[in-house]
Amino acid sequence: MTSTLTISHLTKAFGGVKALSDVSLAVEPGERVALLGHNGAGKSTLMKVILGLIAPDGGEISVCGAAPGKARSKVAYLPENAAFHSALTGLEQITYYMRLRGEAASGAMELLDRVGLGHAAKRRIGTYSKGMRQRVGLAQALIGHPRLLVLDEPTSGLDPVSRRDFYELLDGLAADGASILLSSHALTEVEARTDRLLILSGGRMVAEGSLPELRREAALPVSMQITALNGYDTDIMAALPDAIRLNGGLHLSCTQEDKLATLARISAMQEKVADLEVIPPSLEDIYSHFSRRDGQ
Ligand SMILES: Nc1ncnc2c1ncn2[C@@H]1O[C@H](COP(=O)(O)OP(=O)(O)O)[C@@H](O)[C@H]1O
Ligand SMILES: [Mg+2]
Repeated sequence: MTSTLTISHLTKAFGGVKALSDVSLAVEPGERVALLGHNGAGKSTLMKVILGLIAPDGGEISVCGAAPGKARSKVAYLPENAAFHSALTGLEQITYYMRLRGEAASGAMELLDRVGLGHAAKRRIGTYSKGMRQRVGLAQALIGHPRLLVLDEPTSGLDPVSRRDFYELLDGLAADGASILLSSHALTEVEARTDRLLILSGGRMVAEGSLPELRREAALPVSMQITALNGYDTDIMAALPDAIRLNGGLHLSCTQEDKLATLARISAMQEKVADLEVIPPSLEDIYSHFSRRDGQ
């Protein structure tokens, strides 16, 4: 199968600032890919290069088999801060965009219904909340039959229910074979709803894979929280010299490799232990681990 998007060795600098350095990636049909990174990591620049809005300094890009900007009808874009005409109603705005794209405007209402804006279609956009304006942007991105959706922080400003609806909409599009590249700061939010994560840091791709793959690669320490039976904490601390007292219990951190051996030592003292909790590295720990690499 041909990739919807392929990028190899892409670079882009603004004056002295290297916004993208040697970035390579591919997105397959039906794949949902999350692009993660702190502010200034290069996410929006990468998206604008894919759209053909910014020319790269070097590298190769193919978007739906064409050069950036040459396959417009197949590519949808939701910019970071989409701005709309506040005097128009949602329906008027989408009708206008559909005419611009050469689509029959009769489908505008259906599109607004799909993004959950049907009830407010005839209200002026000036009266919409941030989340509602975000949905206008999403409706705009769904015009036609895009094969690649490039969505720049599409869920910022959406409440949790709207986020869930939004990801369900994306699932449907992906099931229909569309590729999705969306950016976010929030690893927690995207990890369950996308197939693959890409982490940009300082313009470099520092990690790529599913969350379990990134978790393995990061090999961050595991925490254990031990609750001693009354009076036994001193005994346990003597047996586990690395343990410290924390939050009324005993806390221990060990490498992934030492995890089973450490658990065996704890279970050997089971008559002294009231409870044990094993805490894997959090999503944010994994994200920080990769985003901080490369001197960031
Ligand atoms: N038009 C521009 N002119 C100058 N510098 C820019 C421009 N666009 C982006 N940059 C710089 O490029 C870097 C990456 O920015 P950006 O792609 O917007 O990051 P992100 O979307 O991940 O927050 C930042 O250092 C930013 O200041
Ligand atoms: Mg951005």
